[in-house]
Amino acid sequence: MNLNGKKIGVALTGSFCTFEKMFLELQKLRNAGADIYPILSNAAQSITSRFGTPEQYKEKIKEITGKEPIICIEGAEPIGPKGYLDVLTILPCTGNTAAKLANGITDTPVLMAAKAHLRNNKPLVISISTNDGLGMNMKNIGLLLNSKNIYFVPFGQDDFEKKPNSLVAHTELLIPTLEAALEHRQYQPLLQSYH
Ligand SMILES: Cc1cc2nc3c(=O)[nH]c(=O)nc-3n(C[C@H](O)[C@H](O)[C@H](O)COP(=O)(O)O)c2cc1C
Repeated sequence: MNLNGKKIGVALTGSFCTFEKMFLELQKLRNAGADIYPILSNAAQSITSRFGTPEQYKEKIKEITGKEPIICIEGAEPIGPKGYLDVLTILPCTGNTAAKLANGITDTPVLMAAKAHLRNNKPLVISISTNDGLGMNMKNIGLLLNSKNIYFVPFGQDDFEKKPNSLVAHTELLIPTLEAALEHRQYQPLLQSYH
């Protein structure tokens, strides 16, 4: 399914090392003609790290999408009643957000957006990036994989020697994964090696 004219929510959480790759995908979505609605978790809009500052992220998001990001729960809530998104992606999705989503917790703008969007029976695409994917968070990823209307960007072990529990999505597969999700299909293969 073509993404031209599609309304796509892109919800950023605090996996800051993935932001550069995420911005590349955001630009690709824009080039494909998507209408992008950015959403920031509390961490994504407040933490300064060696990867950048919240001000830099917001500036870049505005530059690419032409929109101010949604930064509060009340800003994300209308996604439910208005039902304006065709598809929502959590890109990148931290272990923290995956764990909360799998357990019905809704305490950030990103989680509010996900809950609001899912109530409309529309697809949610998770682009996981977490050091505990094969550890503490495996059970939560399993719950999400088995949940209605939730799809995953294919992922794999990005550094099995130094970080044996780490799982990271192949963000370059975001567009085909979104296209499949809009048809309520999981893009395959889901597990993809980094070697
Ligand atoms: C520099 C830096 C990099 C981080 N990278 C990741 C990461 O790749 N994956 C992850 O799950 N958490 C990562 N975290 C931790 C999250 O930011 C933290 O768990 C935060 O509470 C996530 O909140 P959120 O899921 O609402 O965005 C990182 C934190 C910092 C400061």
